[in-house]
Amino acid sequence: MSLLELSHVSIGVRRGNETFTAVDDISFSINEGEILGLVGESGCGKSLTCLSIPGLLAPGIERLGGDICFKGRSLAALSPAELCRLRGKEISMIFQEPAASLNPLRRIGAQIAETLELHGMADKKKRRAETLDIMGNLGLSEPEKLFRAYPHELSGGMCQRVMIAIAAVCRPALLLADEPTTALDTAAQTQILELLQKINREFGAAILFVSHDLNLVNRVCGRALVMYAGKIVEAGNTEDIFSRPAHPYTQSLIGAIPRREQKGKPLANIPGRVPPIEEPRRGCPFAPRCTYAEERCAAAFPAAADLGGGRRVYCVRHIP
Ligand SMILES: Nc1ncnc2c1ncn2[C@@H]1O[C@H](COP(=O)(O)OP(=O)(O)OP(=O)(O)O)[C@@H](O)[C@H]1O
Ligand SMILES: [Mg+2]
Repeated sequence: MSLLELSHVSIGVRRGNETFTAVDDISFSINEGEILGLVGESGCGKSLTCLSIPGLLAPGIERLGGDICFKGRSLAALSPAELCRLRGKEISMIFQEPAASLNPLRRIGAQIAETLELHGMADKKKRRAETLDIMGNLGLSEPEKLFRAYPHELSGGMCQRVMIAIAAVCRPALLLADEPTTALDTAAQTQILELLQKINREFGAAILFVSHDLNLVNRVCGRALVMYAGKIVEAGNTEDIFSRPAHPYTQSLIGAIPRREQKGKPLANIPGRVPPIEEPRRGCPFAPRCTYAEERCAAAFPAAADLGGGRRVYCVRHIP
C-alpha cells in the first residue's frame, strides 16, 4: 500500500468571481520510506500540490476535485481535529524561507520543544532532553548553545536545519519539503540534502522533495514527477528520466542545467514562459513552447503512455 495517494486532484484559485485551475487532474503516490521528487519551473503548481496534502491551502484556493488518501484513509473524511493532529505528527512540511517560518522572538530550543508539547509531551524536562537529543542526532553542532540561540543569530542554512529538526522531532511518516534549498548557497544546500537523506534513512520518513532544479532531484530522489502548468507530464525513476527524458519539457529542463564546461557562459533558457492560470487552455500546455508540437497537441491533453518500469509520459509522440 502507498503511504500517500493523490487521485485526480485539481486545485482552483479564485480571482474575483472566477476560479482558475492551477493544478489540473494530477495523480501520484508516495511509497513508505521513499524520496519522491517534484520538479518544474516557477508557477507550475508545485507548492499548491504540497499545501493541499495537509489541507493548508490559503483562503480563496481550494481543492476542486479528486481525493487524497494517507495510510489508506481519505483525508476528506477526517475531522478538523484529526487533520490537526495529523499535521506535524504524521505529516510535516518545510518551506523555502526558513527564517520566515521561525518565530524571531523565541529561542530555538523552545521552538523545537513546542512541537513536542503540541503533540502531547507534557513533561518539560523530557521535552528538553528530546530536543537536545534530536539536535545531536541530526548533527547540529553545539546543541546546548543552539538551544539558547535566537533565529537572527543563525545563518539561513542553520535556520533551515532547525526547521528540519522541528519537522522531524515527532518522527513523521511523511515530510513535505518545498524548495528547502532554493534560498541557500551550494555548501548549505549539500548539508540540507544530507540531512534530508539522514531523516529518510534513519527515521524512515518518506519525503516529497520539491525543486525547480532537476540536478538536486537527481541527487536525492529515487523517483520523480515532472510538472508543467498544473499537469504532471512525466513520471518515473529519476535515473531513467535523467538519462532518457521522454517528454520534450523534461528534455528542455535537462538542457537548461548548467554544465561545468559551460561555466561563465549564459544559461541555456527554455524560450517562452509558463502560461498564467488565467489563460484559457486546451490540449498540452507545453505545445506553444515545444519544438515538436503538431496539430493534435492542441486538441486534448494526451493520455498517459506507459513506457514500462513505472514510467509514464503524457505526450502524443509516445502514443502510437
Ligand atoms: N496565494 C495565491 N494567490 C493567488 N494565486 C496563487 C497563490 N498561490 C499560487 N497561486 C497561483 O497558482 C499557480 C501555481 O502556483 P505555485 O505556487 O503552486 O507554483 P510553484 O510551482 O510552487 O512555483 P515556484 O517554483 O515559484 O514556487 C501560479 O500561477 C500562482 O500564481
Ligand atoms: Mg513553490
